[in-house]
Amino acid sequence: MHFHVITLFPKSIDTYVHESILGRAVKDKKITVGFYNPRDFTKDKHKRIDRRPYGGGPGMVLEALPIIKAIQKAVGRKKKKKILFFSPSGRQFDSSYAKALAQKYTDIVLVSGHYEGVDMRVSKVIPAEAISIGPYVLTGGETAAMVVIDTVSRFIPTVLGNAFSLEESRISSSEVYTRPEVFTYGKKKYRVPKVLLSGDHRKIEAWKKRKSKDSPKR
Ligand code: ADE
Repeated sequence: MHFHVITLFPKSIDTYVHESILGRAVKDKKITVGFYNPRDFTKDKHKRIDRRPYGGGPGMVLEALPIIKAIQKAVGRKKKKKILFFSPSGRQFDSSYAKALAQKYTDIVLVSGHYEGVDMRVSKVIPAEAISIGPYVLTGGETAAMVVIDTVSRFIPTVLGNAFSLEESRISSSEVYTRPEVFTYGKKKYRVPKVLLSGDHRKIEAWKKRKSKDSPKR
């Protein structure tokens, strides 16, 4: 999967995708993450692309043309591409949408707006979908782009590695424990649930199933 992020602030995302599991996926070329700065696509001599909104209102809006040019540079000739931009009022992003994206497309463009957003006419020229990563407002789309890259990547075969892939298909709970068996903090002792020490795999699986009921689908 090739991710293409249109952003004024690539450093924040670049660091994240080069660590841990995503870092390994990048190294193994299971995913690529490219960055496109819309400022590189303007003719304005000061490289200015944020402008005041028509009709008034707070903040600034990113101009359409540099964003469109950046998207074209990223995926102009690609066939299986999806262009997403972020908005608190967009379609709710969830696991099943992430899975569908991972299965259907080879290239995903993430337009990370800042300020008050991106001129709406971008999505008139280029078919794009607005998505929200949750019921809150972010200062910019970079965190949302990281969420999408992370979640979609988990659905790309072998990104999680063998041990973790198995993890996908078996029951896992939101409650996990490791050493020591009795953890002392202050004057209190905190124990690992007895069932997990029992060696009785049927009982353990039943316990995990109960515990995983309220956690989201992986
Ligand atoms: N931009 C600002 N808030 C957002 C949210 N909740 N989801 C996606 N993009 C956003």
